[in-house]
Amino acid sequence: MINIAIDGPAGAGKSTIAKRAASDLGYIYVDTGAMFRAIGLYMIRLGVDLSDTAAIASNVESAGIDIEYRDGVQCVLLNGENVNGLIRSEEVSDAASKVAVVPEVRKKMLMLQRGIAREHDVIMDGRDIGSAVLPDADLKIYLTASADVRAERRYKENTEKGIASDLESVKADIIERDKRDMTRSEAPLVKVDDAIEIDSSYMTIEEAASAIEDLIRGLK
Ligand code: DC
Repeated sequence: MINIAIDGPAGAGKSTIAKRAASDLGYIYVDTGAMFRAIGLYMIRLGVDLSDTAAIASNVESAGIDIEYRDGVQCVLLNGENVNGLIRSEEVSDAASKVAVVPEVRKKMLMLQRGIAREHDVIMDGRDIGSAVLPDADLKIYLTASADVRAERRYKENTEKGIASDLESVKADIIERDKRDMTRSEAPLVKVDDAIEIDSSYMTIEEAASAIEDLIRGLK
């Protein structure tokens, strides 16, 4: 199997690019953030205090997470329910980043993600794919962009979806999430030595996607 890891901070364009490259090149796209988001949603529903890591750890076993592909689209099932439509809010983004610091959550996600990569050619995006989940990946990309550019992209996306937001608070949220994702003790976001860094700040998403597709084609 060929395994491609794409890591980087929130809003760098990972999912758009990985999705496009996977569909152009016949890989399965695995959005690992969506799995952490589903766990975040589960804890919100249970009313768990998201700063209580022990409470999160003790509830993670009952959160059944499965990934299915329907018409080529990844669906995250939470105890059998497709929660794709419920995991993109700011509230769930924040909860995902909080549950992601808990070792028991990470362990469960890692096992699931490795299982998928064993069976399929995958382009998997996240924070710890190259460093922890697939350390032997055939290609590792670290995709980044400045916080200003990432905040502007997220703000524009919100506006297009008709979601009211404010640029300064979108930027503050991104910086806070980066900090938590990069400084946690368990599998923090890092650029590993064997990753190729692509800074998409001054590239269009199309340019970044074709740069990555060229690297993947070069593997064969
Ligand atoms: O990529 P995303 O924004 O959907 O991810 C949501 C949160 O999940 C992110 O703030 C950190 C966490 N995450 C992680 O810790 N490890 C991953 N491989 C993917 C996401």
